Amino acid sequence: MRLPVRPELAAATAELAAAGIGPARLEAELLLAHLLGGNRARLLTLASVSPEQAARLRELVRRRATGEPLQHLTGTAPFRYLELAVGPGVFVPRPETELLVELAAPWLLPGTIVVDLGAGSGAIALSVAREFPVDRVIAVERSEPALRWLRRNAADRHAAGDRPVEVVARDITAPGLLAGLAGTVSAVLANPPYVPDSIRAELPPEVGHDPDEAVFAGADGLALMPALIELAARLLRPGGFLGIEHDESHPAALHRLLEASGCWRDVTGRPDLTGRPRFSTAVRS
Ligand SMILES: C[S@@+](CC[C@H](N)C(=O)[O-])C[C@H]1O[C@@H](n2cnc3c(N)ncnc32)[C@H](O)[C@@H]1O
Repeated sequence: MRLPVRPELAAATAELAAAGIGPARLEAELLLAHLLGGNRARLLTLASVSPEQAARLRELVRRRATGEPLQHLTGTAPFRYLELAVGPGVFVPRPETELLVELAAPWLLPGTIVVDLGAGSGAIALSVAREFPVDRVIAVERSEPALRWLRRNAADRHAAGDRPVEVVARDITAPGLLAGLAGTVSAVLANPPYVPDSIRAELPPEVGHDPDEAVFAGADGLALMPALIELAARLLRPGGFLGIEHDESHPAALHRLLEASGCWRDVTGRPDLTGRPRFSTAVRS
């Protein structure tokens, strides 16, 4: 006997809300839509679910209520125009990072080369490849588990008709990384690990499901920035663009690092959509 869908969704919403998960109704609907293999619009005409589907929804809701990320339960994360495969071992792309691609847009022109440092699932690199008529997109990532998701997403997007993304399995700090591209790149984009170890205890439970090496970067969160800035300065052509996502405590220290290197002009802090200073951009002088 089938079960009416409305009480099932109401119970799922109540359990998520009680666990402090929000927006609870939306997440309950996304979990149910995932179970049914369709999108949320399908729920508009759905009157009932099978007892097996109801049991699977309750199980997913239970896991979500204990802090498992929604994207791990559905296996996908939206980012700009893409749905990326994600799961344990790779950082779940966040909506605010979409702005980094937007900031670089004037540099993403025909004939240009773009590098994404710390590519994770490929959110930035694959969006650039999907949306802009650039010549080459190169995604650098060192984590083996993350590389598996990155290669899978890159293969899926290429099969779907997007231009290819070249995956480079290296550490950003490796000497001579991408040496053959020195002075030729038009944009370097990076959402590196930047969370200060000191605020680990304040983070929401979902963050505990992201790999540590994707999130934390030393006591102040700046551990990777000097190597990243030096590499970007080496890769970019004069007039090339650097865009970095960072913690809101970072602008002053990061801008000091950029100015001390003597390689940059137009060093600018950029707010995210909520007004927090979460991005910095600079142009290679
Ligand atoms: C915050 S995640 C960002 C992932 C992706 N760019 C995004 O925006 O969703 C940072 C990524 O940098 C990678 N990473 C950390 N340290 C690295 C290093 N030294 N060299 C290369 N990649 C690194 C991590 O494995 C992780 O995938």
